[in-house]
Amino acid sequence: MLPKMYSGRNKKLIQDYHQSLEEMNAGIVEYVRAMPVMKIFGQSAETFDKYGNTVKRFNKFVGEWVKSSTPGFAIFMSFTSNAMLPVLALGLYLYFQNGVTLATLLLFLILGTGYIKPLFALNNMGIQISIINRGVEQIDELLYTEHLLENAALQHPIDYSITFEHVSFAYQDKNWGLQNINFTVPEKTITALVGPSGAGKSTIGQLLARFWDVTKGEIRIGGIDVRDYPTEQLMRLVSFVFQDSFMFQDSMYENICMGMKKSREEVEDAAKAAQIHDLILSLPNGYDTLFGQSGVHLSGGEQQRFQLARAILKDAPILILDEATAFADPENEIKIQQAFSQLIKNKTVLIIAHRLSTITDADQILVFNHGELIDNGKHDELLENSALYGRMWNAHTRAKEFVI
Ligand SMILES: Nc1ncnc2c1ncn2[C@@H]1O[C@H](COP(=O)(O)OP(=O)(O)OP(=O)(O)O)[C@@H](O)[C@H]1O
Ligand SMILES: [Mg+2]
Repeated sequence: MLPKMYSGRNKKLIQDYHQSLEEMNAGIVEYVRAMPVMKIFGQSAETFDKYGNTVKRFNKFVGEWVKSSTPGFAIFMSFTSNAMLPVLALGLYLYFQNGVTLATLLLFLILGTGYIKPLFALNNMGIQISIINRGVEQIDELLYTEHLLENAALQHPIDYSITFEHVSFAYQDKNWGLQNINFTVPEKTITALVGPSGAGKSTIGQLLARFWDVTKGEIRIGGIDVRDYPTEQLMRLVSFVFQDSFMFQDSMYENICMGMKKSREEVEDAAKAAQIHDLILSLPNGYDTLFGQSGVHLSGGEQQRFQLARAILKDAPILILDEATAFADPENEIKIQQAFSQLIKNKTVLIIAHRLSTITDADQILVFNHGELIDNGKHDELLENSALYGRMWNAHTRAKEFVI
């Protein structure tokens, strides 16, 4: 089996082997991570198909592979585990043909078994080489990923407005995506994006920050296509508060500062504005407390406030806020609102909102559904003219009554 594994002819087989092994490993990791959710919903390993299927696939693959390579492997093992046999057969033949003397024959019978070791070593080396090759292939895939084309020349935007013009975009594995999106966010105004889950709201925000490039159309900041900005300049123009917050295994200070060249005072001011200064001071080592250290725990809402602190510190003229779906306690929500109002002062803001009550004052609300911009206007106009917005508003107010 093993010699077959690394022979040139079987490259595809090796790739398939590693592929199904990786799928199985990923399936197991996902299974372990999903355990709390599965427990709550009363599921067992058997009902978690994805994990079970990857193990079954790997099992089937290895079974078929072993069957197909058994004859070759049997011959290889017969020769290697009975090293004396071929030496004895050839030696006796030569002896009776008068090709060798008895002394030479005996010498070779003693030494002959020694040729096996290098063969086994060669075999093991082959396995190692196949593993290394696979690793190199994966590194190559990453290194040779197509770069986003980048313009080095510094641009001079006329203002900090945002324009989407005939923008279409689809993720590689999706057969639908954003279709012909058109809107403008004037400088220093607030535009809210609303719509059902999966409508494409986060995608709009990510396109603006060039996580991906549009397939058709143009996104402009201050009249200049985002693809024409050097990445560094674009990143200076745009701050992003993500739907899911992420904390680094680093000090509280570094988790706000994020390598920006800012003074200690500025970092603390941002923390105060984001309503996390007191919380940080209550930790064992204040700003030097390591996140992830035993006993140091931050709730989802508190982590979201760290994100707001980063954005306040960065002070970019354009803000994209992808609101987290839920902040459980009202006290936290009030703090987030306070941090939020600090953050949006004098900024061009694109807010992706799930709780519609937070955006009733927005200058413009865009309603998305299935990748299309279906309605836009102010809150009152949309209540009258947009069926989808009306339904979402009703659901939202009903949910609030439920909470009360
Ligand atoms: N990285 C990705 N690769 C492939 N498909 C993606 C990716 N991110 C999102 N999608 C898909 O694109 C569609 C739009 O996703 P998007 O995250 O923009 O929705 P959304 O409106 O922000 O939803 P939500 O309200 O749940 O946050 C969805 O069908 C989603 O599954
Ligand atoms: Mg989203």
